[in-house]
Amino acid sequence: MNIRATNQVLGVIGDPVAHSFSPDMHNAAITALGVDYCYVAFHVLPDRVGEAMSGLRGLNIRGLNVTIPHKPAILEYMDRISEEALAVGAVNTVSLEDGELIGYNTDVYGLLTALREIAGIETFPAHCVVLGAGGASRAVTYALGSQDDVQKVTVLNRTVARAEALATDMEKITGKKIDVGAMDIETQSWAFADAGLVVNTTSLGMYPKVDASPLADLKAVHPELMLYDTVFNPLETQMMREFKSVGAPAFGGLDMLVFQGARSFEIWTEIKPPADVMKEAVIGRFQG
Ligand code: ATR
Repeated sequence: MNIRATNQVLGVIGDPVAHSFSPDMHNAAITALGVDYCYVAFHVLPDRVGEAMSGLRGLNIRGLNVTIPHKPAILEYMDRISEEALAVGAVNTVSLEDGELIGYNTDVYGLLTALREIAGIETFPAHCVVLGAGGASRAVTYALGSQDDVQKVTVLNRTVARAEALATDMEKITGKKIDVGAMDIETQSWAFADAGLVVNTTSLGMYPKVDASPLADLKAVHPELMLYDTVFNPLETQMMREFKSVGAPAFGGLDMLVFQGARSFEIWTEIKPPADVMKEAVIGRFQG
């Protein structure tokens, strides 16, 4: 990759940010396409987010991804916010367009594209279950609740009050019924029984605690229940192995990561990047 005076600058802000796979993914796409951009990581502390946005304008940076913990805080600095970002309450992509800061949320697109293109979903199940009630859950619950085929979403979380707050918001926004519950075996069995899809948004099973799983008991799983685990490191989680052991389909979060990145890239450059190249770049980084 050539860093030149003509480059338009893209990047990611986060705290921490050193773990981010976004520079690998985006620079691989830039190199493959031979376009005049470069993508860098900025470590921005929470009390510096406003200055970072001023800096973006001042330096005429084309666009930024936003990662933890800044996704909700960044909203107040935007001139305009997309419908999805407003609904989710989080911006993961900032684009400088004619001097205005536009906030987008491409996590919603990332999940839906992974479910359609990789997991092969054509018609979404009438009942979907979401595990977790944090920031990722908001994007997932909104994405699923916005599908015409989906009639009900059940959000299960260790802290039920957090799931209740999320459900109240998402019922208003999506107009769909959102049930809530805890993560115990009885509740999971009840929720999974007539569900066709469960999406894990908790951090359970993520590196380095790779033996952990949000599944209370294997008995709750049936072969018609598909798992999408948003955890992408490791590529195959303990929960995915548990689902596969009873013949249920299970997919990992790498494709959601890649497709959210691909959509951000397209917003900034108006070029659809090669998702397979971006995916290989992340896998390459795993392999050291
Ligand atoms: P994110 O923005 O990535 O969703 P988060 O807001 O910290 O991160 O949310 C993490 C989610 O994982 C929450 O649903 C959390 O449950 P609580 O709301 O009860 O904290 C869930 N989680 C994390 N560690 C967990 C554990 N050991 N057992 C069960 N749930 C866990």
